[in-house]
Amino acid sequence: MRKNIVAGNWKMNLNYEEGVSLFSEIVNMVKDEVIGAQEVVVCSPAIHLSSLGKLASMSSNVTIGAQNIHQAESGAYTGEISASQVKSIGVSHVILGHSERRAYFGETDELLAEKVNVALKHNLVPIFCIGETKEERESDRFFDVIKAQLEKGLFHLSNQEFAKVVLAYEPVWAIGTGLTASPEQAQEVHAFIRETVANQYNQEIADNTTILYGGSCNPSNAGTLFSQADIDGGLIGGASLKSRDFLEIVKVFN
Ligand code: G3P
Repeated sequence: MRKNIVAGNWKMNLNYEEGVSLFSEIVNMVKDEVIGAQEVVVCSPAIHLSSLGKLASMSSNVTIGAQNIHQAESGAYTGEISASQVKSIGVSHVILGHSERRAYFGETDELLAEKVNVALKHNLVPIFCIGETKEERESDRFFDVIKAQLEKGLFHLSNQEFAKVVLAYEPVWAIGTGLTASPEQAQEVHAFIRETVANQYNQEIADNTTILYGGSCNPSNAGTLFSQADIDGGLIGGASLKSRDFLEIVKVFN
């Protein structure tokens, strides 16, 4: 059966020392307290990854993720980081398709499909984000948008490949806005995503796919969101920058 996961996305926050200290706090808390989420992932800026990788190797259930990789194996791509490079320092996951990368860096579904391929080739688990804008929700186009993101970004994968992917539903209008999707709104979309996966692959693969919710998730709303049948955890932005808040969210699964 599918795993529940709580993942933090630090985005472009925290200098080196702040990041190492926050991560150490998280690792210690996860050790000291009974933790419900089966997997805890922290996706930090690239500058932290190597040090966090060393700290993570001391903890059995906190792993680290990158926030981006380049689609090429290696080469003349100044400023970029490859899948094999992040893999070589102990990174296990990579966020792909985040709406901020789609909107501010022009990442298209086609480019994202290439990034997914290179991530899987190097045994990185893609945390693949999908979600509609405010305008797409208000004009009732959100199911079509989400379906198209799945089809173009992921549905070229074989059954075995798709089974390695984690999905994250992040309605763009809920990200960093304090406006959370209601548990019913989120559940409706998560159920739709699972059904779409079942139609493309099969019911077993759909039932085993972890689908996270992201968008203003915090210690007060995580409980109701994660208790929905098709919500298997969260991808947490702002609240992942405070160790106590992040831990409270992780503990929802206790
Ligand atoms: O990837 C996490 C995300 O975009 C949600 O951010 O700050 O609304 O929790 P936030």
